[in-house]
Amino acid sequence: MDKVQVKLSGVSCLIFLLSVAQISAEEIKDTRVVYLEIEARNLDKKDFLGKSDPFLEFYKQTDAGMWQLVYRSEVIKNNLNPCWRKCSVPLQTFCGGDFNKPIKVECADHDSDGSHDLIGTFETNLTELQKAGDGSPVEFECIHPEKKQKKKSYKNSGIIRIKSCKVGRFLLVGVDFTGSNGDPKSPDSLHYISPDGINEYLIAIWSVGSVVQDYDTDKLFPAFGFGAQVPPSWQVSHEFALNFNPSNPYCQGIQGIVDAYRQILPQIRLYGPTNFSPIINHVARFAAHSAQQGTASQYFILLIITDGEITDLDQTRQAIVNASKLPMSIIIVGVGEADFKAMEFLDGDNGVLKSLTGEPAARDIVQFVPFRQFKNAPREALSQMVLAEVPKQLVSYYKWQGWPPVKPPEMKMM
Ligand SMILES: *[C@@H]1O[C@H](CO)[C@@H](O)[C@H](O)[C@H]1NC(C)=O
Ligand SMILES: *[C@@H]1O[C@H](CO)[C@@H](O)[C@H](O)[C@H]1NC(C)=O
Repeated sequence: MDKVQVKLSGVSCLIFLLSVAQISAEEIKDTRVVYLEIEARNLDKKDFLGKSDPFLEFYKQTDAGMWQLVYRSEVIKNNLNPCWRKCSVPLQTFCGGDFNKPIKVECADHDSDGSHDLIGTFETNLTELQKAGDGSPVEFECIHPEKKQKKKSYKNSGIIRIKSCKVGRFLLVGVDFTGSNGDPKSPDSLHYISPDGINEYLIAIWSVGSVVQDYDTDKLFPAFGFGAQVPPSWQVSHEFALNFNPSNPYCQGIQGIVDAYRQILPQIRLYGPTNFSPIINHVARFAAHSAQQGTASQYFILLIITDGEITDLDQTRQAIVNASKLPMSIIIVGVGEADFKAMEFLDGDNGVLKSLTGEPAARDIVQFVPFRQFKNAPREALSQMVLAEVPKQLVSYYKWQGWPPVKPPEMKMM
């Protein structure tokens, strides 16, 4: 095998796999996703008894000029002004990484017998869609070609409104806001921000984030908190957007995550229990979607920063065992001085992690890093430790998928 210089970062290690996987460099290193939020108004009524049951389909144009389905939304029943669930599609799946590739969007009325009626369609591309930034949606007329031909007075069959379209990278950051961390106002708390503006959570976000972020210009990361009571309802949430914007949880770079963290801290109540499984299952849904595309070109990394006092250990074991069959890794950074036995157990380094029912993980996907060992070390040391296992885990995924066995990449500092 060729000697490949591998920088100790998740991203560059992805490149290494090329020689193994025979898929293009762009495909394997591209962990970006397209994030979309779409609604429509004044759609044509298609059902005799009722309105329409609209859903959307996105197609990309193949090199041969064919339309290939890349995403299908859920069906919204009996509604001419639907608002679809926000969605994320891997960038490579969506448009092969080419922002100018033609994209066709079809809006149709769902019929249970499968004979869906086209409401209307339009063509665009990601460059155009991306103009739907914060607060400036992009609208398209939904055109039914036959109706347009038949009727002179025909205008359109409704308006599709792209409320938001962003391209982000899928490092998802989850921050533990459970009560065991201590009251953030008290200097004993792990969330206490010292007079010089830092705490262990912030250092961990910086250290890990700076390794993965300096690769791309878009630098959007979804970030979530868990285990706190959040306004306005003050219900405990195990998955709330760190920027308090559930429809767009992406933060601009690591600085964006840090800013969101600082802002949210005084506005929430640390609570409990400490459940990991919701956020693991959240990422698993994206990874499953990507794996279904068959190209295995996306790999997802979940970073959890926690004090380690987990409550849902059994559900988390099951979630990890399930996720071990998907293209994802979980990095857990433990802050504070607590006993991290449960975290070490999840790491599975001393044996294969099993679910409560005895099902073994397909491969090791968890890397646990006790922050205290790195407190006084240079920042790079933590980053390197954090990402040390990810390349091996990546290789193990492709191996498990039945690709030829390969040696893990040789680690070389650059
Ligand atoms: C992208 O789509 C818009 C219309 O949605 C079109 O005006 C533009 O020319 C397209 N760009 C390319 C490069 O095809
Ligand atoms: C894990 O996968 C099993 C099937 O293998 C499924 O029944 C279960 O609901 C999944 N659990 C989670 C937490 O996703």
